[in-house]
Amino acid sequence: MPVRRDTGFIAREKLQIRPGRASPPKGEKTVREWTRDERYRVLRDPSEIRDLYESIKTSVYRQTYHVQPMTGLSSDPNGFALHKGIWHLNYQWCPWGAVHGLKYWYHVTSPDLVHWKNEGIGLAPDCFYDNRGTHSGSAISHGDDLVFFYTGNHRDEDWTRTPFTCAAYLGADGRLKKLPKALFGPRDDHSEHQRDPKVIRNEANGKYYILLGAQTLDKRGCVLIYESEELLSGWRYAGELKVPGFEHFGGMWECPYIVNISGRDVLIFSPQYTTLPGRGASTNHNVYLIGKMDYDTLTFTPEGGYHFLDYGFDFYAAQGAANVGDPDKAVLIAWIGLPDNHYPTEEEDWEGSMSLPRELRIRDGRLVQTPVPAVRMLAGDPVPADGSLPPACEMTVTPCAGDFRLHLFTKENGDGGLRLTYDAASRTLTADRTGMDKRFNEKVGEVLSVPLPDGLAKLDIFIDRSSTEIFFNDGEATFTTHTYPTAREFHYTVSEGASVLIRPMEKSVTDEFAV
Ligand code: FRU
Repeated sequence: MPVRRDTGFIAREKLQIRPGRASPPKGEKTVREWTRDERYRVLRDPSEIRDLYESIKTSVYRQTYHVQPMTGLSSDPNGFALHKGIWHLNYQWCPWGAVHGLKYWYHVTSPDLVHWKNEGIGLAPDCFYDNRGTHSGSAISHGDDLVFFYTGNHRDEDWTRTPFTCAAYLGADGRLKKLPKALFGPRDDHSEHQRDPKVIRNEANGKYYILLGAQTLDKRGCVLIYESEELLSGWRYAGELKVPGFEHFGGMWECPYIVNISGRDVLIFSPQYTTLPGRGASTNHNVYLIGKMDYDTLTFTPEGGYHFLDYGFDFYAAQGAANVGDPDKAVLIAWIGLPDNHYPTEEEDWEGSMSLPRELRIRDGRLVQTPVPAVRMLAGDPVPADGSLPPACEMTVTPCAGDFRLHLFTKENGDGGLRLTYDAASRTLTADRTGMDKRFNEKVGEVLSVPLPDGLAKLDIFIDRSSTEIFFNDGEATFTTHTYPTAREFHYTVSEGASVLIRPMEKSVTDEFAV
């Protein structure tokens, strides 16, 4: 097949190393080369991935309290909603290995957003509309029904893509059931990148809206809006969302989401195909705008510039849950990982995990993010803060005044690690992961900074076996990164005068084999 100079998945496919090529262009180390047939292989029977699961299960990097794939790759969170007291979450899943290929939805449930159970495949790419992938989407609880919207990624034989917006619902047996027909197809006044339906209900006018991440014909990122009075019928195109000042901001806006929190509208999306100041060479970002959404004119008027939803290396495609039942908060979860990037567990044929679910609130006109309170149920009694680091723990640090440093995952003698350095003069914290034994995505960047305009008062750090999430100053800024410490790196050093509380975290993901 001809490899087109295009954006999106074809670009991702091109990132795999090809024979005779000295190095991959951007995401660095790929462990193996996948043919298209291998990437797009259909899973016909659970037994086909049983051995893979058994071997992956023994990895020292398996998470203990973050949702992760049984095998293969997990990426975007999908269909995240509270329905009849149970939290439902799906994620993009490619069963065969750490590669973006044929995507399934994998379904997990939780009573409390912390203890998660593997339910099995949510949506499989098994019909005309989604023959090459059940791509991202959302859910909404509607009376007795939990209704899902997703992108059917159809490709024909010459690999031309047609994205369909499709729907499904939760059946009495707990499995997702697809509607036989797609709700609508793509528009020809935009490029083929039209996907990730986020369904929202506007309480003010009682209408439902679907936001689609999209790209204009001249390759600018945007959001398309559909509206309907009914959830499963009557969908019509309302127009392209106007976001004054953001007409030229990246080449595709993936996973858009608009939520009202305490009377302020927040637009969250993942712009790609552009670098942004302060983000190294990365071309994938997750940002938000605070402003006012006018559904009559389809205009989101931002109050000021964009903000990074998270300042870390690996945080993308965040999705807010539906039906949280509190006008002052939203609950959000994201993929710890980025498109086009490669991670050390690729050699074990799996990668990616979900972030901790976070509550979003508006404080002093700013968005703040804190782990959902239930996360704290997992924290056990404190262990001595003696310089050693449990593999899964919460670390709460109150820094000393002035300049401050905290080096996580150092060797016993304090060398190396993920080095966090706060410069009081510029009120900036710098995170540098070049000191860790396992380096990855070097060209994308291994050093990033977090501006903390009000200074640094507190760090809440959630360490799991292959990720670290930091909440600064009770959620004013966050920093999420994959971390893959080796056996000799479970130590830390910290500036004198800081207080450190370390509490091991209990296991809360079941990780059982369920297909
Ligand atoms: C974001 C994304 C979505 C798409 C999905 C496919 O990472 O590219 O736009 O629906 O991944 O896996």
